[in-house]
Amino acid sequence: MNKFYDHQSGRTLQERPEAYILDKVFDPEYFSELKESFALIRESNVLPYNLELGRSGINTIDKDVGADVLNSAFDKVSAKARSIFGQDVKPTYALWVAYRGFRANLPRHIDDNACTYTIDLCMSYETQWPIYIEGQEILLEPNQAVVYYGEDQYHWRGEFPSPLKNEVQMIFFHFAEPNHWFFTEGPQHKQEIVRIKEAHQKKNGIK
Ligand SMILES: [Fe+2]
Repeated sequence: MNKFYDHQSGRTLQERPEAYILDKVFDPEYFSELKESFALIRESNVLPYNLELGRSGINTIDKDVGADVLNSAFDKVSAKARSIFGQDVKPTYALWVAYRGFRANLPRHIDDNACTYTIDLCMSYETQWPIYIEGQEILLEPNQAVVYYGEDQYHWRGEFPSPLKNEVQMIFFHFAEPNHWFFTEGPQHKQEIVRIKEAHQKKNGIK
């Protein structure tokens, strides 16, 4: 696999295969159950809200309310991930999110966290909101996912359509090699990864 230096992040990245859509990620019955479970969790809990990205979420690392439901879905996807990315890959963390309102956005970035292998599943949308992976436009229907490499491939979304009445629900499933820092150093090592990037960006006047 070819490697190259990325000045924006100050990291050495790997060239990766083009993103693609995975259809029918779950069997339809389980997918409906999963949607219903998250609807019930939202009805009876206030979920953590990310102000910068305009989304509420459930994170398996933080063991948020609903993380057990998310982990059961994560288990099911892990077998698929091993057949796609290789038998050695291990689950790192998963995140369920609902983007809503005028704050919803996703700037162009590569991931700081343990997202070497990424499967982003569409749970629902009111108005479809394309995601771009290295410039390739991806439109997902519910129960479809985009397969890509979050730490190596820049990804973003355009303006959030119809912010007054839109909601887009996704689940992000992430995997990495057993020798990834997530496993050797622990999940908290992410802070160090971010610190090094920010120091590089400050030094080089990169926003
Ligand atoms: Fe990302």
